[in-house]
Amino acid sequence: MKWTAPRPAAALLLLMSALLGGCSNFPSRQPPIWVWWDMKKQDKYKPQAESAFFADGRASRPPVAGTVAQELYRPDRAFSTGIAPDGNYVAQNPLPITKETLVQGQRKFDIYCAPCHDRTGSGRGIVPAKAVWVPGNLHDERIVNFVDGELFHVITNGRRSMPGYRFQISEKDRWAIVAYIRALQRSWRGTMADVPPELQSRVR
Ligand code: HEC
Repeated sequence: MKWTAPRPAAALLLLMSALLGGCSNFPSRQPPIWVWWDMKKQDKYKPQAESAFFADGRASRPPVAGTVAQELYRPDRAFSTGIAPDGNYVAQNPLPITKETLVQGQRKFDIYCAPCHDRTGSGRGIVPAKAVWVPGNLHDERIVNFVDGELFHVITNGRRSMPGYRFQISEKDRWAIVAYIRALQRSWRGTMADVPPELQSRVR
């Protein structure tokens, strides 16, 4: 069959329907004509708008003085910062050092710390293997001598080239990681005397 050029009227129709299609706001799911507005249009203030109702003319009201966002409410500052009221690092982990605490600490350490510090804490994780980045060896005498609050503080705020993890790891989990680091450090310094006598012959 021979191709024939479309007649001008058909071409016009096509063009008009394409233009009308544009008017329907496609692909919006809103109907092009709103018969019932429901609550889609209503009197309201947009952020930063003006209002004659309030004396200062601002529609956005400041919170009542002394308001604290729930997620920023920290009744126990030592627990959330690792710094005691006297300004020193908290000496002792406030969590009970139980098996649950250590297991949770291990879980979180392996997720958040092991990529750089590796699972033993010696600092040979996969990140430093691929980049020029030298994480501290958590078994260094200097770090073993940190009090618990200083470890917590390093996890929370980072130190030098180490990033802080306060947004990723909850306070409780950070303290659990501190407990687990203590276990790692203890195991690193273990001697044959720490192995129960009946198991010593099996250690190689
Ligand atoms: C992205 C890599 C990275 C991750 C992940 C990381 N660290 Fe570090 N960390 C470093 C680096 C790098 C240093 C050395 C910082 C320096 O001295 O410049 C360091 C140092 C430290 C130190 C010693 C600080 C000092 O005073 O020398 C501690 C303690 C520590 N990290 C604990 C942790 C713990 C606990 C985690 C998991 C919550 C963690 N780090 C996760 C990279 C990392």
